[in-house]
Amino acid sequence: MEKKKYHIVTYGCQMNVHESEKLAGIMQQLGYEETDETEKADAILFNTCCIRENAEERAYGNIGALKNLKREKKDLIIAVGGCMTQQSGAAEKLKKTFPFVDIVFGTHNLEDFKRLFEKKLSTKKSVLEIQAREGSVKEGTPKYRTSYPNAWVNIMYGCNNFCTYCIVPYVRGRERSRKVEDIVEECRELIAQGYKEITLLGQNVNSYGNDFEEGVNFAKLIATIAALDGKFRLRFMTNHPKDLSREVAYAIKENPKICRAVHLPVQSGSNRILKAMNRRYTREDYLEKLAFLKEIVPNCAVTTDVMVGFPTETEEDFNDTYDLMKTARFHGAFTFIYSPRSGTMAANLDGQIPEEVSKARISKLIDLQNGINREISEEYITKTVEVLTEGYDEKKKMYFGREEFGKMIYFASDKDVFGEFVNVKITKANGISLIGTTEN
Ligand code: SAH
Ligand code: SF4
Ligand code: F3S
Repeated sequence: MEKKKYHIVTYGCQMNVHESEKLAGIMQQLGYEETDETEKADAILFNTCCIRENAEERAYGNIGALKNLKREKKDLIIAVGGCMTQQSGAAEKLKKTFPFVDIVFGTHNLEDFKRLFEKKLSTKKSVLEIQAREGSVKEGTPKYRTSYPNAWVNIMYGCNNFCTYCIVPYVRGRERSRKVEDIVEECRELIAQGYKEITLLGQNVNSYGNDFEEGVNFAKLIATIAALDGKFRLRFMTNHPKDLSREVAYAIKENPKICRAVHLPVQSGSNRILKAMNRRYTREDYLEKLAFLKEIVPNCAVTTDVMVGFPTETEEDFNDTYDLMKTARFHGAFTFIYSPRSGTMAANLDGQIPEEVSKARISKLIDLQNGINREISEEYITKTVEVLTEGYDEKKKMYFGREEFGKMIYFASDKDVFGEFVNVKITKANGISLIGTTEN
């Protein structure tokens, strides 16, 4: 008999991408197989995000679009979970808007999805279960990985920081670290299975182990993983500037398997705004962190997240951000317009910034960063870099992958090099990506 099929739609960050690999693992355990085509699926799962309003709008749009399919195909099961549904009152609102949704779950009971799905199958009634609080760390959830040659590995869950604009602490709960042994064992198995890159995930990886006895910390964890046998790269995200230590910089310096690439979101260059955001560092602290990183790991590539239009942001505050980005010369930057999130402190502040002002500000930052990206790309030309091949682009007829600092490189090869490390000599810069030729 043909197997039933599932299709998963994921929004949001890498953590959610990995969480979807757990949902996929559970679906495989239930005897389903994956399909890319919505129309062919017997179960469609949405793993949602609520970091900004547009993430929620997209999810609402795509769930709503299934109304007719569901009408034609009565047995189709539609499930919605993740950060959006974990917000207070959101699950009920979703169910009211889209009564045809069969299962609604949150972030704290994602790992219990097998039971929820089976409950739906056996009762034939819709299931709405949101666990209000985070439980303790669960191990052993099956994972069906979809990002070979990279593998995502959670090192911790939740966030304690309560940046005033951010919904994450409300929907992901407090920080909980996984045990060193469990993380190292997972990494060891992944390397044995042939994975070539491991990316450690946490909202603030630098506070890893703070909930354990002394002696466990992030620097020691990455050094321990990097000491495992085999050729692989180790990456991690995200770093909070207030917690990034010299010890972490030394761990990067001393372990060649750890990529010299640090994602260090600055958010703003204005001390007044940083304070209002509750980021707990100043512009000067941030620049000092950059300075010691570059001093200890001279070729380290730093990327960032930055936001415009936080309530009360003046032209002067914005200029401080612009100036900081110019000084820092980031290897890459994600830019965002502040989006008020109900339930967060900043959503109630006076002085919300009109959209046209935010749009003008963000486009200035994008122009600045595009110029820097171009300059950095030019610096690669004639250099040879080691690329980990992630896939093949049918249109371009070229393989693609990333070098240590995260730049996307395209190159032609007669051999099938998917999942392999290849030396590529860069010949041309093309926007943020680079083009090169193989040397082996
Ligand atoms: N834990 C990570 C960030 C996770 S969210 C950290 O602290 O850096 C990823 C990015 O989304 C953030 O860095 C921030 O720039 C942006 N972001 C978060 N909340 C936002 C909001 N309400 N509006 C706009 N951007 C937001
Ligand atoms: Fe959100 Fe701040 Fe936590 Fe990052 S550190 S997830 S921005 S509250
Ligand atoms: Fe990630 Fe979005 Fe949740 S960014 S943690 S999926 S709110």
